[in-house]
Amino acid sequence: MRALTLNLSSNERGFGKQAKYLAIAQALRHAIKAGQVSPTETLPSARQLADQLKVNRHTVMAALAELVAQGWLESKERSGYRVVENLPIQTSRTLNTSVKKSPAFTWQFRKEQPLPSTSKMKASQYRYNFSGGQPDISKFPFDEFKGHFSQACQRPKIDDLSYGDNCGEAELIQQISRYLRRVRSITDKELMVCNGSQEALYMISQLLLQAGDKVAVEQLGYPPAWAAFKSAGAELVAIKQDELGIVPEHLQSVLAQGKVKLLYLTPLHQYPTTVSLDITRRMQIYQLAAKYGVAIVEDDYDHEFHYNSQPNAPLASDDPSGLVIYISTFSKLMFGGARIGYVVADAQLIAQLSAYKMLMNHKCNVLMQQAVGKWMQQGGFESHLRRMTKLYQKRRDFMVSSLQAYQQQGLPIHFNVPVGGMAIWLDTGKSVVALKEKLLTKQVYLQTEVEFNIDNTLPDSDYRFVRLGFAGMSEAEIAQGLCLVMTTLYPDK
Ligand SMILES: Cc1ncc(COP(=O)(O)O)c(C=O)c1O
Repeated sequence: MRALTLNLSSNERGFGKQAKYLAIAQALRHAIKAGQVSPTETLPSARQLADQLKVNRHTVMAALAELVAQGWLESKERSGYRVVENLPIQTSRTLNTSVKKSPAFTWQFRKEQPLPSTSKMKASQYRYNFSGGQPDISKFPFDEFKGHFSQACQRPKIDDLSYGDNCGEAELIQQISRYLRRVRSITDKELMVCNGSQEALYMISQLLLQAGDKVAVEQLGYPPAWAAFKSAGAELVAIKQDELGIVPEHLQSVLAQGKVKLLYLTPLHQYPTTVSLDITRRMQIYQLAAKYGVAIVEDDYDHEFHYNSQPNAPLASDDPSGLVIYISTFSKLMFGGARIGYVVADAQLIAQLSAYKMLMNHKCNVLMQQAVGKWMQQGGFESHLRRMTKLYQKRRDFMVSSLQAYQQQGLPIHFNVPVGGMAIWLDTGKSVVALKEKLLTKQVYLQTEVEFNIDNTLPDSDYRFVRLGFAGMSEAEIAQGLCLVMTTLYPDK
């Protein structure tokens, strides 16, 4: 059974003038009041307490008897002593509902929460989870990965485990840099590993933005990034998009007005529309950023999953002005809980990010990073990637043919087949404003345009799209989930 933290004061520890058993009774009473043991919970045995406190078992028995007499404990035949259901005080911190609460303390928050607080149930707790970036975690090779983790534990490098080097584990930095050189043609930049790319977005915002600055973002975009920019006091300016990506002419008119410090883009598989930014536009956008002295944050969050051809190279691979800050993540090819993301930028910015990170976090998770580094170095990472790319392509194709079948049945839905990524952006042909809530009651989680459109003032009928993730579910689940979505959207068809 677990040990209790018994705070015996110095007087009590030496048991001073007070009788030993009374000092122990007092310490136990403090432990109960502090909520270390809850009402009706059984205490460790007298023998365990005696061992823990290095006293005779009879002394402990006397302390327990004292607490029974005071009404804190009751003796249960054969199971020892347990805390009474109703404590003889009203100020206990335990969750005893019969205890009257004192008036609640009121927190004074500095400013509004930039992101809505998370809902009670997570997307992954719904039977059908269409959230767009959800990988199939059940296919992750945990057994193989365990080997790399235990390798990291078998020969721990004490120096690596101590404070310092908050840019990440050397082994992992080296592996990711090699990988990016090969698959994304990124060469002449430095890399810092973060606890997910959201940490990078937050730090970039805090370092580069201040109140009054503007950040240009895609009109339909990624709210956690917006929240990070806003948390630094920046104002968001939406850039129009069409079927080729953001519209350079509109970007130019926004940049010409001044004050734009950053441009945040998801060029490869635009979030949430999945559009790949047209190559000509990509160059125009880069040139505009260079002309107006605006840094680009390029979020390449799921470049691994590209199906019929090689993905377009990122802006960061051809960045003569050194203005691109490239971020990406392992949340899609592993899982969100891995908390591994990275930022690639010039040495000066990486040095500043490293210094800033000391405010928040001295270090990354060394063992996890070493394990991922070994997994990459020994080839397991690439094999997993190949397997998952094939699987996700099959699931994309399955979702495409299922949606086409619904179209043939006469449902007015429209979509483009995404060339990569993990989701389809579907025009439902009708308002989706109330759809999410309705589907949650049917155990279906999906996100609608309402969550991605920066403009929340449009008429309801203008929000028509949903983002359907296909990577995280089996084909059977996709089919059942889609059936629920379609019957909810079109009950009469
Ligand atoms: C556009 C975008 N950027 C970044 C991320 C990943 O964030 P993180 O690395 O913090 O898990 C996601 C994941 O959903 C995403 O959709």
